[in-house]
Parts: sequence; structure tokens; C-alpha cells
Amino acid sequence: MTLEEKISLVVGVGMLDRRDNPKGRVSGAAGETVEIERLKIPAASFADGPAGLRIHHDREGDTGKYHTTAFPVETMLASSWNRTMLRKVGEAMGREAREYGVDFLLAPAVNIHRNPLCGRNFEYYSEDPLLTAEMAAPFIEGVQSQGVGACIKHFVANEQETNRMTVDTVVSERALREIYLRPFEIAIRKAKPWTLMSSYNKLYGSYTSQSRWLLTEILREEWGFEGFVMTDWFAGDDAAKQIEAGNDLIMPGKSFQNSPQRKSECEEIRLAIESGDLDLDTLDERVKAILRILVRTPAFSGCEYSNSPDLEANAAISYEAGCEGVVLLKNESALPLSAGAPFVVFGTGQIETVRGGTGSGETHPAYTVSLLEGMEERGLAVDKEVAEFYRRKIEELRSADYSISYGVWNEEIRPRLPEDLFDEAALDELSNRNEAALVVISRISGEGRDRRLEEGDYYLTEDELKLIAGVSKAFRKRGKRVIGILNIGSPIEVESWAGLFDGILLLWQPGQEAGRILADVISGSVNPSGKLPTTFPRTYADVPSRSFPGEPADNPSVVSYDEGIYVGYRYYETFRVKPVFEFGFGLSYTDFEYSDPEIILEGEEVIISLIIKNTGSTAGKEVFQVYVKAPKGKIDKPRLELRGFGKTDLLQPGEEEKLTVRLSKEELASFDGYRWIVEQGEYEFLIGASSRDVRSTGKVRLRKTGGDLRWQIERK
Ligand code: GLC
Repeated sequence: MTLEEKISLVVGVGMLDRRDNPKGRVSGAAGETVEIERLKIPAASFADGPAGLRIHHDREGDTGKYHTTAFPVETMLASSWNRTMLRKVGEAMGREAREYGVDFLLAPAVNIHRNPLCGRNFEYYSEDPLLTAEMAAPFIEGVQSQGVGACIKHFVANEQETNRMTVDTVVSERALREIYLRPFEIAIRKAKPWTLMSSYNKLYGSYTSQSRWLLTEILREEWGFEGFVMTDWFAGDDAAKQIEAGNDLIMPGKSFQNSPQRKSECEEIRLAIESGDLDLDTLDERVKAILRILVRTPAFSGCEYSNSPDLEANAAISYEAGCEGVVLLKNESALPLSAGAPFVVFGTGQIETVRGGTGSGETHPAYTVSLLEGMEERGLAVDKEVAEFYRRKIEELRSADYSISYGVWNEEIRPRLPEDLFDEAALDELSNRNEAALVVISRISGEGRDRRLEEGDYYLTEDELKLIAGVSKAFRKRGKRVIGILNIGSPIEVESWAGLFDGILLLWQPGQEAGRILADVISGSVNPSGKLPTTFPRTYADVPSRSFPGEPADNPSVVSYDEGIYVGYRYYETFRVKPVFEFGFGLSYTDFEYSDPEIILEGEEVIISLIIKNTGSTAGKEVFQVYVKAPKGKIDKPRLELRGFGKTDLLQPGEEEKLTVRLSKEELASFDGYRWIVEQGEYEFLIGASSRDVRSTGKVRLRKTGGDLRWQIERK
């Protein structure tokens, strides 16, 4: 390869489908690598995102349709706690990427839910690094089993959207290692993603995309990462430093062609080579890293692609994944609804259902089944008059003062609609002719902007509260049930109004099959089995990441993760701050009995097993969790940490299943600021239905004998 060819390969072709840039091979893809015809190196195509392949669903001068499947958002997928499900979703997305000619899917995102107000939390799995990793790894395997590459992102400590391209994250190395790097480390070791995307932000003053410590020392020398690293789009401020640090590919490329501030990336790299600031060997390393992966892509093998993936089959997977991710938060004889009993649905979200978030994580499906459509399609006894009223009202409002505009991502900007649309007399009449009432609360957020601590976002609006209070009063007066349906991407305040509901169903943002998922759960055809991957705090004041989104408040340049490792339940449980719904919590329509807990040692491993039995009258699945309380040694520890989990198959009433979790010493290690250490002492293993609902415990001592750390179970 000539120097020119090498330099051209480490920089993308530029933003596609823009006036001064080439047409992408796949319209709507996020980027491409350059084609080098002389060497028969084809261009490779990159497209988002975590909830489904994001490409244009129509193309200029082409009557064809290029719809893709909208899957549940990552937080909902993680609520399934079902590794097999994540693999299936990965396979489906991988198939769609391949069939549409995309070589790399820019997913999964494994940043942490450090604060509920992060605008992209819907695109991230959890507040816990292990659950995040255990969802990401099978997803990556699923995608790559289809012959296309996954891209684990955004590496690292990118837990907010405010000033995301410049903010400097300051975090202890312990918290960085145990919380923020951990999902990447586990998923890379387990699933070997072909690519990784470095993040926008700085870490300790250097852009992550220009940090040799992160991209070479940790990622490659410590973890053995064998793929290639790409920047996030337009990240960083020095292309030569990015190449030097270990960032192989600069995306989208050609970002500064006409910029007075900077030369083009290629120019910067060339000048650095000529001046000796950048070694040619280093550039060769980057080129080799890219080529080693490119040769695996469908583009390289010249694969024909159909442009017609099996969207029906993938829709079924999207529906199945959604059903596994619904979380039943409250149920006082409210759900499932009695068959055939008439019920009424309030809330504009029944029609303007939110399938996912905005930004690069959005999707372009052929349809989205709204909550109302799904309930009607399934033949549920929804109050027709009220349904018609909402249809007409929304149409009227959207054509007048509440018209829709379009944002930078061409996403719909929908002014919030009034919700308090029924007076007392109307509610009284409706509570007379219906047996139950549902109230839908919807929220949307997206890339580029964090959520707001205000009504209509983290808090309910006055309108929403008035509607809920009115419906609750009218229906409870007649002894009838009221159920809240949360169509949201990240926690909102619930404590102040949860008491007005007899049931609360967390539907998250379920993708295109939304209405069918809801209909089948409220009718009882599907028994909800999801559990929370993230805490619902009682009040925002309880949230430990008080520095979010950084200082100075009006225009943050630095964000300091002062809470350290005490993120989410690690904080709430250690400092006894009771949440309204805890990490790992979720109800079922049936009951499960946990029995026969056993802890045995097998060499270096601790094997925890138990039996879960369905003691209720409805088939269902149960997620159990294993937390560990480590001994207070040289360094402080959270009161408990998730160290394993599992999910039963669908258990019929009376059926039981034995489940096992195997733990090595290394999986119980803490980072002491310099290295991972496993401290001697007594480890308590907690088997729980959630982080606060512990069903059984067992203790094992780790003792240094003859220089080695050995497990010992002290017989009672
Ligand atoms: C965006 C996002 C990243 C996405 C990329 C390409 O800015 O941060 O997640 O994959 O650019 O669209």
C-alpha cells in the first residue's frame, strides 16, 4: 500500500447522503470506509443502532422500501435478564444488517445508568456493569454469528449528553475499572466484538479517542482486544493523536475538509508522518487492525444481499423480546383484566405510543402498533367511544396549536398534548360502564440532550396528575381498578402518585410491536417476567450522582463522578436509601417458591444452586439473582453486588427447575486503585428475587493457606 492509500484507509469517507459527500452504498447508513480499487479493498458500510438497523426506509429515485425492524430499547431488553433472548435479537439485527448490505452494526451501547436524566439511558442496559455485560455479550455473538461486525460503544465514561463532545470526566480509577470499564472488559473477553467505538468525552483531560492508556494499554495490552477502534462521529481534536493512541479509524471522516480551524484528518496525519511526530509503523498497525477485520465482512467477500430481510420473522422476535422485558411493578388484584370485561384507556400515549428514543438510536420500521391498535386488534373490550374521542382529539390538536415539527435527526418534535380531558361527570359515567381503567404515561428522550428535572419529563404534568386523580377517584368509588401503563425510556418520579393506582405496568419503549405486547400482558396471555435493570428512586434528591451533568452548571466542562463505585443499588443499599422500586424487582401473575439453596465448592469455584417452583396457577418465568457481600478488608465495599443471575424456562403451575451460578474468585475481586484483589475473609452469598428481597443466604470463607487463597465452607 502506498502512504496515500494507508492514510485514506484510516479515515472514513465523510457523512453520507449529504450535498458535498458521496452517496452511501446503503442510503441512511452512518458511514463507510474508503474503497481502494487498485488493491481490491471494497468500502465497508456502518449503520446504527441498539434498537434496530437505522437506514433510510426510502431512497431517491427508487420506489423500493427499505424498512427495518424496531426492537425494544436496550433498557427493556435488559429487563428480560434473558441471555438467550439477547442473542436472538442480535441474530435478527445481524441478519437485517447483512441483507441490507451493512457490514458493521453500531451496537451495543454499554454505558451505565449513572443518572436517570441521561438522555440516552434508553440506549443503555443498566446501572449494573455485570448485567450490562451479560446482555451485551450474547447480543454481540448474535450479531456476529450472521457474518457482520458488532461495535461495542461508547468507550468510556460517557454517561451524559450535556456537552458530551467536550466534557472532561473525572472518576477514580477504582470506579472506572469496577463500573464503567467492566462491561467492556467482560463483553470483549466473552464475545470478541469486531469493533469498538471510543467516546466523545475527555477522561482526565484527554479525549478518550486520543488516550493511549485506554486504547492501547488497557484495551489491547491488558484485555487482548483484537478488533479495531473507531471514533464516535466528529470526536476529538487531533487525528494524528488518535492514530498514535490506538484509534484505528476516524469517523465519519472528511469532517474538516472546509474548516478554517483544522486541516482534514488525512492532511493532519500526513503532516505528522512527514514531521516524524507519527511513526509509519504506528500507521501500519492501524491499517492492519482495520484490514484484519475488513477481510471478514460481506463487502470483502462480495456477498450479494437481497435488500429484503425477513421482517415478519424479525417482528416476531421483537414482540417476543418485548414480552420478556415488561416489568409488573404493582398489582393489587388489578391485572390481568377479567376476560371480556369492558375497560377504558386514558392518555394520548395510547395512540402516540413511544416505540423508542431519538437520535442515532432511532429506527424506521414499516409500522408501529400503537397501544390502542394492539388492544383493538386482539379484540379486547376497550371503550370504543373514548378511543374514538382520543383519535379525533389528537388529530384536531396536532392540526392546530400542537403541530409536529422535526429535529436535527429529522425526529418528530411533538409538543406535549393536554391530558386532563374529562370532567367529573364524564369520569363518573365511564366508571359506571367500565370494569377497569388504564392510564398511559409516555416519555421520550434522545441523543444530544439530557432529560429535564421538570414537569413533562422526570415529573408528571399537572394535567397528567389531574387525570390520574380523577380516574382513580371515579373508579375506586365503585370498587373498580385503575392501572398505570409507563411507556418510558428511563425512570420518572412515581412515589407521589403510585398510590392512586392498583396496578402499574412498566412497558418501557417496546419497539414496533408495542400494542400487541401490552394487549397480551394485560389480558394475561403473557405473564410478565421482567425485572428492573435500574432503580426507581423515591425522589431525585436520593440519586447519588449529584454532580450530574457537571460544573459549571450553566455550561459544564468537567463532570466528577464523586459517588465513585456507589452507583444505583450499590449506593441505595449501602447507605440504606429506600427506593420506590429496587434494582432486580418485578412481579408476576403467579408465585414462585425458592428452595434447596446450596453452596458447594468445586476447586476454585463456588457453585450456588437452588430450585424455583411455580406455586401459583399461571405459567410463568422467574429471574433470580445472586448478590455477594464481600468482607470489609483493606478497601470499602458496597453492601452487596450482583455477581450472577438466571431465568427459569416457562414453568407450568407446579413445575420446578434447578438453577446454578458458578463463581470464580476473580469474579469477586475489587480494584484497590492499582490492581484487582480478592480479599481474605467471609463472603456472604445472597440469593434474591431482587436486590432487597433475599430468599436465602450462605457464607464461605476465603483463607490464605500456603500462599494460595482457598475457599472453606464452615459447617454450622
Ligand atoms: C452518534 C452516536 C453514536 C453513533 C454515531 C453514528 O453521534 O454517539 O452512538 O453510532 O454517532 O451515528
